[in-house]
Amino acid sequence: MKFTYLGHSCFLADIDGKKVIFDPFISPNEKASHIDVSEITADFILLTHGHGDHVADVEAIYKQSEATLVSTFEVVQWFQNKGLENAHPMNHGGSKKFDFGKLKMVNAVHSSSLPDGSYGGNPSGFVIEGGNKIFYYAGDTALHMDMQLIREEFTLDFAFLPVGDNFTMGPEDAAKAARMVGVEKVVGMHFDTFPYIEIDHEEAKAIFSEHGVELILLSVGQSVNL
Ligand code: NI
Ligand code: MN
Repeated sequence: MKFTYLGHSCFLADIDGKKVIFDPFISPNEKASHIDVSEITADFILLTHGHGDHVADVEAIYKQSEATLVSTFEVVQWFQNKGLENAHPMNHGGSKKFDFGKLKMVNAVHSSSLPDGSYGGNPSGFVIEGGNKIFYYAGDTALHMDMQLIREEFTLDFAFLPVGDNFTMGPEDAAKAARMVGVEKVVGMHFDTFPYIEIDHEEAKAIFSEHGVELILLSVGQSVNL
C-alpha cells in the first residue's frame, strides 16, 4: 500500500484502488509549498477532528474530486452546512465498511473545534482494515490507556502516530503508544510544521529503537510502501 506524505498529518494513500487522503493541511503549510493542491484528487477525505491544521484544504479537494468526506458527526454537519453534502458522519466506537476498507472510529485525547470556533465534537483516530493490511491513524492525541483496546481487537501492521510534542504525544509517549497498540513500525506525523513542534529526528528515532520500534520520518512529498 502506497502512502505519500503531504506534510504535517496529511497522507494520500492508495487503498484497494481508492485514493484516500487524511487530514489535508497543505496550502497554508510552508513546509509543503512545493505541493500543488489543485492537482490533488481523492475518493475519500478522512478527518480526525476539526482543527484548522487538519481541515484547511478539505473544500478544495472535495470540489475537484467528487470525494466522500468521512469524519465525526459534528465535523460532517459543519461541512454539510457549507455545501459539502457528500459526507458520512460517524462517532466513536462505530465501524463502517467503505469502498477502501473498513474504518473504526476510535478515541483520541485532544480537543476539536472548527476554524470558525464551532463545536467539533470529540477528536478521533481511525483503525483501517484495507489493502490486506490493518493500520492505526491516531490523529492528534495524547498517550492514553484506551490504546490497549486497539491491541486487544486488532493485529496491526503499522501505525501513524503524532510525534511533535507540545500539542500531542512527543517521541517518548509515541514510542509507548506503539508498544501499547502492538506495532513495530510507525510513521511519524504532526512534527516540524511549526516551531512549537520541531523535533530532533535522530533523537526521536533513537527513542523508538530503544522500545524496539522503527520510526519512519518522511520528508514532504516522499512516498512509502507499507
Ligand atoms: Ni488538533
Ligand atoms: Mn493538529
